[in-house]
Amino acid sequence: MRPKSASVTERRVGVLVIAASRSPSLEEMGAEETHGLGFERVDDDPNVAVLLATMDATAGWAATRRLRAWERKHLRLYDGQRLLDVGCGLGDAALALAADLGVEGEIVGVDASAEMIAGARSSTRAAGCRTRFAVGDALALDEPDRSFDVVRSERTLQWLTDPEAAVAELARVLRPGGLLSLVDTDWSTFEIDVGDDDLATRVRHAMRTERGRPSNIGRRLADLVQDFGFKLVAQTTATQNWNAWDPDQSRAPEGCFSMSSLADDLVDRGQLEAGDRERFVSTIHEAARHGRFSMALTMFAVVTAAPTTAL
Ligand SMILES: C[S@@+](CC[C@H](N)C(=O)[O-])C[C@H]1O[C@@H](n2cnc3c(N)ncnc32)[C@H](O)[C@@H]1O
Repeated sequence: MRPKSASVTERRVGVLVIAASRSPSLEEMGAEETHGLGFERVDDDPNVAVLLATMDATAGWAATRRLRAWERKHLRLYDGQRLLDVGCGLGDAALALAADLGVEGEIVGVDASAEMIAGARSSTRAAGCRTRFAVGDALALDEPDRSFDVVRSERTLQWLTDPEAAVAELARVLRPGGLLSLVDTDWSTFEIDVGDDDLATRVRHAMRTERGRPSNIGRRLADLVQDFGFKLVAQTTATQNWNAWDPDQSRAPEGCFSMSSLADDLVDRGQLEAGDRERFVSTIHEAARHGRFSMALTMFAVVTAAPTTAL
């Protein structure tokens, strides 16, 4: 989604919005609207709090919880291992693995956003293993070659200009035979059903094509890592479903963008006439008020093993 200008009265910020468990909701923050500036430059976002709140909300998605539990099972971590989380956000996913690493183990989290890193650092007390969270770039990690037993990256490759280069970096810092875990959304799977076939088709067509960022990378994860000589250990998908939403109570389905933002995006993509924007939004809102709203989005996950000889 392309950057938009923001003002105090019209806050087009944030990407996926809201209803956070820990952070204040969008409504509580007083933001009027949300749109996708995205997670490329979180700290430059005029309403960075929305992006932080979104991390809480998306961590609470059933699909996210399922994929993280699946990942933990397949990583089979043990005492003393060193784990790197690239694009770690608030660090919650990595910190949930701390007990498996033990007091001799270590979690290192890297994120481009100082705000995210500050949030992660505030959660490290009583982590149960050593922790280090630092601002850094997935495309140029400030970590030595072959220095981690496990590297993970969740929902981050889709925000990078060059995901292949990032995977090369993840591979570089992983020891021979170490495990690489990748989780990413695939926006081409996004579906909306409000009993209007034309509307659903427009959304599906709009999401099919990537524009400016690898938003449909989820389904390519397995091929991507195998190109680097990694061996697939396990792969899975999880679909996040939204089957109910009251637009009079919250501006957007939990952890998601508003329907106005979706309409703006469709207009930008040439899938919707600007004059039809209001009707598009009101059709969805009315359907949701009458219990005829559902959305779905699929995330993909792979756990792979690095070659046993250095790359
Ligand atoms: C959608 S969030 C996911 C955060 C976390 N992995 C999770 O699943 O909760 C994407 C994260 O990638 C970070 N990010 C974006 N570009 C980055 C880069 N070049 N290097 C490191 N982190 C980056 C953002 O700051 C953001 O925290």
